[in-house]
Amino acid sequence: MLFRLWDSVPAPAPARLVADGVGGEHLLVTRHAEVRAVLADPDTYRPDNALDAVTPMPVSALRILVRHGFRLPPTLANNGGASHPAIRAEVAELLHPHSVERHRPWLTSVVRSRVASAAAALRSGEPVDLHAAIAADLPLLVLARLVDLPAAEAGAVTTFARAALELFWAPLSADRQGHLARVVGEFHAVLRDFATHGDGLAARLRAAGHSPDIVVGALFFLLVAGQETTSQFLTLLMHRLATTTVPPGVRTADLVEESLRLDTPIVTWRRVAARDTTLGGVAVPAGTSLLLWLAAAGRDPSVVAEPEVFAPGQRGSRRHLAFGAGAHRCVGASLARMEAEVVASETLPLLRSVTVLRAPWTPDNLTFRMPDAFVVADISA
Ligand code: HEM
Repeated sequence: MLFRLWDSVPAPAPARLVADGVGGEHLLVTRHAEVRAVLADPDTYRPDNALDAVTPMPVSALRILVRHGFRLPPTLANNGGASHPAIRAEVAELLHPHSVERHRPWLTSVVRSRVASAAAALRSGEPVDLHAAIAADLPLLVLARLVDLPAAEAGAVTTFARAALELFWAPLSADRQGHLARVVGEFHAVLRDFATHGDGLAARLRAAGHSPDIVVGALFFLLVAGQETTSQFLTLLMHRLATTTVPPGVRTADLVEESLRLDTPIVTWRRVAARDTTLGGVAVPAGTSLLLWLAAAGRDPSVVAEPEVFAPGQRGSRRHLAFGAGAHRCVGASLARMEAEVVASETLPLLRSVTVLRAPWTPDNLTFRMPDAFVVADISA
């Protein structure tokens, strides 16, 4: 099914047109070289449809969004226009690898104390949900230090971010769309308020002369991109480490990279053809939505020695496209890697001594894995 593309990663094949079951058709691109070629050519393949709702929104849900003053002008991932480089530069400066590194010791102490609490609970015979205990809000804490965010409770932000991923990328009933539009709309109002007086990124974008709508749009996307994707990945990574034999002496950075390749939380990403063209011999008329299967590109035997095997450091392990490529390549990649390295090194000893009671469950979604709970018990319990 098109909405669960992580269930069935195929051998690379020529691009083919696939119906998504909710009214749309996409050219599904699986080969590493073709996914990369599309990402590297933003003039032919524009990012404009990156955040379009997959399930068309009924008027009732649109009205709810309008009532809340919801507007999402192109700012980052879906911005193929002239304003993109300047907005990206502001974000990139705050997320520069040097700034990210400064937060590693602090993050290590936060994760260490979370792991100690989880270990104590496990020793006393209790099961522990490692998604909730370690990963669920961790990226948000880091983002708050790096870019400044509204002082909303972490629970409210994560509820909003997950609602946005569902509203824009899941197959949905009209009732569910109405509910999600309300959640997203209400948080959008919080962001609008913050955009007018907040510090950090909001202040930088205002000072650079960007309109309030652009500031809100950038904050909106950053919260979804920086919080949800990373928390999902941390949970998938812990699950991987709990269920795979990790060779002794392996570098933590290699563990993270191999997990990004095999367990990417962003399974697909979209582009739209700006003109008639061809891709690997397949005709691509202007206006075609291309669904780039990032997870499949990471398992392409033409770039990875053993595509299906978790082998940290193997040839091609780092050539995955989990962070995209080109002008829109993930600007938070260093941050995501740093968070993942801290979580991998701090949880690995614990993960060696647990048994999995419940693997993360992932709902139907075109793009995001969105794992929920990951419940473990002490192996001797
Ligand atoms: C494991 C975690 C993450 C994954 C897998 C991921 C993946 C991606 C992907 C696939 C894209 C689209 C790239 C393209 O169109 O070529 C993207 C864009 C982006 N990501 Fe991430 N991301 C992650 C974490 C983060 C974090 C932590 C942040 C920020 C705090 C972030 C901020 C962004 C931004 C701002 C963009 C848009 C860049 C642009 O259009 O110029 N991401 N990410």
